[in-house]
This record gives sequence, C-alpha cells and structure tokens, in this order.
Amino acid sequence: MQKVTINKIIKRKGKQPIVCLTAYSSSISKIIDKYCDIILVGDSVGMVLYGMKTTKEMTIENMILHGRAVKSSSKKSLVVFDMPYKSYLNKYVAYKNAKKVLKMTKCDAIKLEGGKKIIHIVKYLIKKGIPVMGHVGLLPQSSNSFRLKGTKKIEEKEIFNDAIALSNSGVFSIVIECVVESLAKKITKAVSVPTIGIGASKYCDGQILVSDDLIGLSNFRPKFVKQYSNISKVIEKSVKRYRRDVRKKRFPFAKNLYKF
Ligand code: KIV
Repeated sequence: MQKVTINKIIKRKGKQPIVCLTAYSSSISKIIDKYCDIILVGDSVGMVLYGMKTTKEMTIENMILHGRAVKSSSKKSLVVFDMPYKSYLNKYVAYKNAKKVLKMTKCDAIKLEGGKKIIHIVKYLIKKGIPVMGHVGLLPQSSNSFRLKGTKKIEEKEIFNDAIALSNSGVFSIVIECVVESLAKKITKAVSVPTIGIGASKYCDGQILVSDDLIGLSNFRPKFVKQYSNISKVIEKSVKRYRRDVRKKRFPFAKNLYKF
C-alpha cells in the first residue's frame, strides 16, 4: 500500500477522482484508510461527536487529540488537519500553531477556511514549508447559517476570486463547500490544483463527506449527503439484544466467564 503524497494529489487534477472522508477516531481511520486518498480530521468533530452548536467551540488542544488518533491509525491516506477557529488569527499565530499541530499529530498537511482575506497567512505558511489545503464557499467558522453559496453574482465572483487567489498562493488542493454547480465547475476549470467538493457537484476533482453522515451515525441530512448505511439502526438493535440478555440473566454466557 503506497502512501499518498501531496505531489500525487496535485497530479490527480482532472484525472481519477480523489476520494476523501473525515475521521475523528482511530477506529474509523483504520477502516477507511485503504479506501481513501485523503482523510480530513475536520473541526466538524465539534458538532458531530461533541454535540456543539457550531464548529467554533473546538480548541486546538482538543483537535490535536483527534489528529493523533487518526494519523496513528492510517498508513496510506494523506491526513489533513483542520485548523480550528481562531488558531490562525495572524500569520505568526498560524505558523506557531501549524508547527505545533504537525509536530504533535504527525499529520501531513493543514486546512484553513477562507480566501483573499487570509491569503497573506496562507502564503506565509507555504513559504515556511507547511502544506496547506484551502477551503472556499460555505465557511462554517465564519458563517451563522447553513445555506447554498454563489447564488448571487457578487457572491459568485467573490468565491471564484478566493479560489484563484488560493491556487496562485500554492495550496495543494481546495475544498469547495455548498456552492451552485456552475460555480464549482468554473472554479475547477480555472484553478491548477484539485478541487474537492462537498455539496458542490460532480465537476470537482474529488469529493469529501463526513464519515458519520455516510454511515448514518449522525442525524444531519443535507441534500448533498448520500447515506450508504444505517449504523445507528445496527447499534440500536445490538443494544436492545444486550439489554434483553442482561435482564434475563442470559449474559454473560458460559464462554464469557474466566475459570480456574
Ligand atoms: O470540518 C469538516 O468536516 C470539513 C469538511 C466538511 C470539508 O471542513
């Protein structure tokens, strides 16, 4: 199993679609690693695992624990660490935090949300040797509502320019979240690095989903999620059987007992 590198991802532009998923734990990382090109330790962990209202409550210390767990259980995928809210307020804070994150988690790259507004930070990090993945369109760290982006001409132009600025600054790929199909297509055609879509159309160079949404462990059901299985139901069924066995004194079974 050959390790996916930044260069291999860049070379996939316009070729075989790039498969990405989020992971927050060692167990999920272990399962999905061989099927993914990129695993993102997303700050969505705040909402998905901790039940927070937004991703803004995640701290860098908390994210580092998830980053370590995911990276230590993956052999093949490129593991990208999502820099949490306020961890890249200016270029010096961003560099200090990015260096700490990569050292403590051994992740391969970081992701930042935003375009032109943070381009000086992105350029500084890249100049210092930190591989950066960009993120445009819906930006959960600075948006208060979940809505489709790029529906108005002015917003469409802004997002397009953000993507161009990121590509020119040297990011190795760009996540495009929840934008109109035509805009995702236009960005993908215009930028030199792979685009990774989430609710952004088949025209992107790759796709990403939150693993918990894909397996039916979360109850987040936006239109762009395809739920491939219903793990919640499997868990519920197992717990019901366990409860029945405990109450009827059928568990532990003979084979579960330690004997001298
Ligand atoms: O935090 C996250 O999971 C993300 C993806 C949705 C791209 O940023």
